[in-house]
Amino acid sequence: MSQNHNAPESSSTISLQCIRCQKSYPAHEIRYVCDCGGQLDVWHDLEALRPLISRGLFDGRLSGAPGPRVAPTTNSGVWRYREIILPATVDTIVSRPEGNTPLYEHPFLSNWVGADAIFLKHEGENPTGSFKDRGMTVGVTQAKLLGAKAVACASTGNTSASLAAYAALANIPALIFIPSGKIAAGKLAQALAYGAHTLQIQGDFDDAMNLVRQVCNEMGVYLLNSLNPFRLEGQKSIPLEILQGFHWQSPDWIVLPAGNLGNTAAFGKALYEAQHLGLVDKIPRIAAVQAEGASPFYQSYQLNFAERKTVKADTIASAIRIGNPVSYERAIRTLKWVNGLVTTVTDDEIMDAKAVVDRTGIGCEPASAASVAGARKLIAEGVIQPHETIIGILTGNLLKDPYATVDYHTGAWPNAQFANAPVQIEAELGAVRRVIEKRL
Ligand code: F0G
Repeated sequence: MSQNHNAPESSSTISLQCIRCQKSYPAHEIRYVCDCGGQLDVWHDLEALRPLISRGLFDGRLSGAPGPRVAPTTNSGVWRYREIILPATVDTIVSRPEGNTPLYEHPFLSNWVGADAIFLKHEGENPTGSFKDRGMTVGVTQAKLLGAKAVACASTGNTSASLAAYAALANIPALIFIPSGKIAAGKLAQALAYGAHTLQIQGDFDDAMNLVRQVCNEMGVYLLNSLNPFRLEGQKSIPLEILQGFHWQSPDWIVLPAGNLGNTAAFGKALYEAQHLGLVDKIPRIAAVQAEGASPFYQSYQLNFAERKTVKADTIASAIRIGNPVSYERAIRTLKWVNGLVTTVTDDEIMDAKAVVDRTGIGCEPASAASVAGARKLIAEGVIQPHETIIGILTGNLLKDPYATVDYHTGAWPNAQFANAPVQIEAELGAVRRVIEKRL
């Protein structure tokens, strides 16, 4: 694999380490898996970091109204934690900035879920409308540090939208591989608008993923899927921000949608490190929620991971339509670290959960609602107790997938429980009056 000998000094405090055999590689070596085939982590020296890291260090950085030439380290919800993410110098960081996403709670939603209170961490309110920006700011910063001539990813849509935007900001050409006709309109629009070279593959996400791995290995393009360990370092900031938002008192549960398993992997690493650095005494359990038609991880989980299952994925939630998730090994490790579990929800459950989230004015794309549907199911099953503190992750913005929403409300989704169909009327006052009298 290639190396960049002009590697920045900052990366010398970290290295890449195989999660299977612990073999270590320099952080400036461009590689995504170990020689043994195992996945790689960005390894931080937690012993050396312990005296430097404290709640006060991170709390002291909670500031900064947006303004011209404000350093991203001041107001990014990712770079606030830079010592345990990527110790890059401020002038190298490519940031929008991202993170600092809200935590919403709404009595109607909590009641529907069956919880005293469910809090929704809205990652769809990141700059390009999904959590991917948290990983991409770090991935593209690392690409810049390595002097990458181009960056690439396979995507169900959000990764490509985010990569396209951050690559444009860094002035690095972006190459994206998407399954033809299978990504949501808002996401395709973003990739095209931000100027990415967009390749529509006659196949599914898993085919696109195989292809981009070959292209990156053979053509020296830097791969920015979540296989890339630097991406996951950025996504660690989601649980870190949750812990900080709860004044370092751990909630009981984090419930998140699971597709390629990047977040599941990143969340576990973040929580493990936060506990070992003494930021929190206790960590939340994680529930990873898959769509029933795209549930290879759940099927392996049921077999106690004796066998790695893959499936031909099919779900309305196109973002998580993935049959062979890349971060499989790292996600299993998460379940061990956090006493986690995996469950599934049907497409009807996803779309009704989405309709309830939307109806409260919060709004999300279909895959995100898997977390809410999953929390509801786990409460009904008695796995999560109603009084426990539950955080659901909303991974993407409602505007990403307008057709799924419109179809649900206009009759194309047969079992829609919360449909809000528009009314066709003639352009005259009497017609309006008749509608209003019936509805209000
Ligand atoms: N939710 C949304 C909105 C996503 O876009 C994705 C993944 C996930 C959940 C699943 O997260 O892969 O970390 O388990 N989207 C990727 C993409 C695959 O290409 O945009 P994960």
